[in-house]
Amino acid sequence: MTACAAPTLLPDEAGRFLRLYHAETGTPGLNHRLGRAATELAEQGRLTLSTPELTHGAKVAWRNSTRCVGRGYWPALALRDLRHVADPEQVFAELLEHLEYAWNGGRLRPVISVFGPGVRVLNPQIIRYAAYPQAGGKVVGDPQNLELTRQLRALGWPGGPGTPFDVLPVAVQSGGQVELFTLPAAAVREVQITHPTLPSVADLGLKWHALPVVSDMRLEVAGESFPCAPFSGWYLQTEIAARNLADAGRYDVLPRLASAMGLDTRSERTLWRDRALLELNVAVLHSFDAAGVKIDDHHTVTHRFVRFEEREGRAGRTVYGRWSWLVPPLSPALTPLWHRSYTDTEVTPNFFAQLTPWPIAPSTCTPSTGAPLRSAGCPFH
Ligand code: ARG
Repeated sequence: MTACAAPTLLPDEAGRFLRLYHAETGTPGLNHRLGRAATELAEQGRLTLSTPELTHGAKVAWRNSTRCVGRGYWPALALRDLRHVADPEQVFAELLEHLEYAWNGGRLRPVISVFGPGVRVLNPQIIRYAAYPQAGGKVVGDPQNLELTRQLRALGWPGGPGTPFDVLPVAVQSGGQVELFTLPAAAVREVQITHPTLPSVADLGLKWHALPVVSDMRLEVAGESFPCAPFSGWYLQTEIAARNLADAGRYDVLPRLASAMGLDTRSERTLWRDRALLELNVAVLHSFDAAGVKIDDHHTVTHRFVRFEEREGRAGRTVYGRWSWLVPPLSPALTPLWHRSYTDTEVTPNFFAQLTPWPIAPSTCTPSTGAPLRSAGCPFH
């Protein structure tokens, strides 16, 4: 097949991405690459992207993520090319490496680890807190993870000590088998929440993990899918303080915080919820700063987003966005994004939600500490 005939035979997605890659990175040899891609697709039915191509694809996937207000840093994304890794133990070892690379002594680095086909991490994030239902409908832990906790227990997790912040094991699926792995405590960096001027906030015993590592989204580049491509950046304080700890359906700490602050909670009109919410945001920023862990605030990040839009405009690209996700849940009208509008269009490369195939029959499981245990030690065998 000749190089000039080939482009017409390429599926749109592949041709479009390769053109974008060569144009944006200034890499020569587009025609040759298009020809080779057409041959690969004709012969193997799939395209094998080079590491630089996949790296650029992942960066553009981040740039195209309509719900992400922090994506101005897309050129800084590092890619760990682990497409040859499919053995569950190796996958887990690489997840630990990901945490270490991303942590970087608190100066968090954005990174994505791309694994081979047939691998899935079933947890929505590498670090998630368990949920334990109590009599009377109360929940100890993060109610968002009730179903995840139930499924992991069905796979053989015996449960943790029962604190509100028990870290769940990681379920790695490969070739249809699922194995559970316990994260060593040292791999899970956490920040205890204290307040600069209200000592009673520390008594609430709140904390959160430093790294958000989203692990259940499918990366799509050039029409190729990567179902296991965990990625992480750093937190924006509102994610933790205005949602995870504050939502009535999550940790619901505002009533307790308000009494710790001595606020009058008898009437909504004292705005005790808003006052507690604000101080919780102050506390999370203060605690991460004091611990030397990178975190953004909603003023800085939204102004930076506007500069990202301007840069993209100069590069001749449209920024799509989902307004309801970009605008922060605290003081939204104080940020420049409140006054702007966005078109919510999904373009590729991008990250997509994918169904997690629960329930999964247990194949192996792990004790509450230490290395994974194969079938022999599992209560289901
Ligand atoms: N909102 C999610 C959480 O609170 C994390 C999503 C990704 N966030 C990020 N800053 N990269 O855990």
